[in-house]
Amino acid sequence: MNQITITGGQTIQGTIAASGAKNAVLPILAATIVGQGESHIKHVPHLHDVTTMNELLAQLGAKLTVDHHADITINTDTINNQTAPYETVKTMRASILALGPLVARYGRAKVSLPGGCQIGARPVDLHIKGLQAMGAKIEVQDGYILANCERLKGNRIMMEKVTVTGTENILIAATLAKGETLIENAAIEPEVVDLAKYLKAMGAEITGEGTSKIYVQGKDQLQGTTYSVMPDRIEIGTFLVAAAITGGSITINNSCNDDLDAVFAKLVEAGAEITTTADSVTLNMHGKRPTPVDIRTAPHPAFPTDMQAQFCALNAIADGTSHITETLFENRFMHVEELNRMGANIQVEGNQAMIKGVDTLSGAPVTATDLRASASLVLAGLAATGQTTVHDIHYIDRGYEAIEEKLNQLGAVIVRS
Ligand code: UD1
Repeated sequence: MNQITITGGQTIQGTIAASGAKNAVLPILAATIVGQGESHIKHVPHLHDVTTMNELLAQLGAKLTVDHHADITINTDTINNQTAPYETVKTMRASILALGPLVARYGRAKVSLPGGCQIGARPVDLHIKGLQAMGAKIEVQDGYILANCERLKGNRIMMEKVTVTGTENILIAATLAKGETLIENAAIEPEVVDLAKYLKAMGAEITGEGTSKIYVQGKDQLQGTTYSVMPDRIEIGTFLVAAAITGGSITINNSCNDDLDAVFAKLVEAGAEITTTADSVTLNMHGKRPTPVDIRTAPHPAFPTDMQAQFCALNAIADGTSHITETLFENRFMHVEELNRMGANIQVEGNQAMIKGVDTLSGAPVTATDLRASASLVLAGLAATGQTTVHDIHYIDRGYEAIEEKLNQLGAVIVRS
């Protein structure tokens, strides 16, 4: 079951509900480590990365119950080892999120270095520097980060670069540190805010989340709580592109519209009509071919790198030429070669792609190389003539809940085999 075949040419039309956000639930699950007693996490998406994080927590000794409504109950009082092994971390980089919480609550952690990643080098030096600034003694030995300390101490931490999981690791750790921590140049992504809300619900004292200065007054202990995860803005953006690329229309309920300004703006520029209510978004392309849109990825609130590949697919069939500049990850154009195999005309030079829109893409066998690349190939397959088979589709299950069920519900013809 590692490939899907899409019969292209159907118009995407209908209504779906957004799932919980992958990039919010992963740090929240890691943050259950700093709370005493049970946490009940609701609106958890059924994703491979969530399973991996659950397995990691279970390996540490936490007790987990997953119910059929996708709620998870976790008790981390039973954690009796602080090692995140290579086998787990290599399959999911976000396992690094266990480092801060483990050292904050248990005074030690041994977490494998994530190592190379398909979309670029992605170092974790800023996670390490931040924890060192809070007093953790850190050594890197045999591919593992070994962290120790009595109790972390609050400090002023200046992040040299805006890093999402780096900010999250330090934020979680600071909630149990002695005294005040100030994270400067913090990531302001909505998922960092969602994590802060969960930590606050556990009793943490945090101000400034959603700005580049986050203040944390450390507490002696936090108490597990019930929390519902925010919607997935990247899933929402991807389904909006699915409607736009097929000239169709879609309503997505449970949307977080305020977090999607940059994506909505580019879809409107591409010719879509977008209307919103408090918690839903409707896109209507009125059967039009997209107008090409230039994109430059950057940290929030600018255009998200996690939507770049999907807009490559949209621009591939647009009426004219566009440029996409990727400023976050140096190797994030691996979908381009595959899109070109479907008849797209895209040239990459350094961190820029020049896309000359073609009238039609044609179905072809293609191979997914990472999570968002796999989404862009599925989108291209929807718009293409004939059949597209996307191989190595397992990447998509890391970040999209029930993607083929949702797309089939919207009129697509997709079969997994
Ligand atoms: C998170 C998201 C990912 C998204 C990315 C950028 C999660 C689980 N993943 O990844 O989906 O694409 O944000 O929005 O939330 N960097 C360093 N040193 C560090 C850490 C990062 O140099 O210690 C660099 C990275 O190489 C990259 C940039 O900072 O160039 C941003 O990366 P970062 O925000 O850390 O991405 P992730 O948190 O890994």
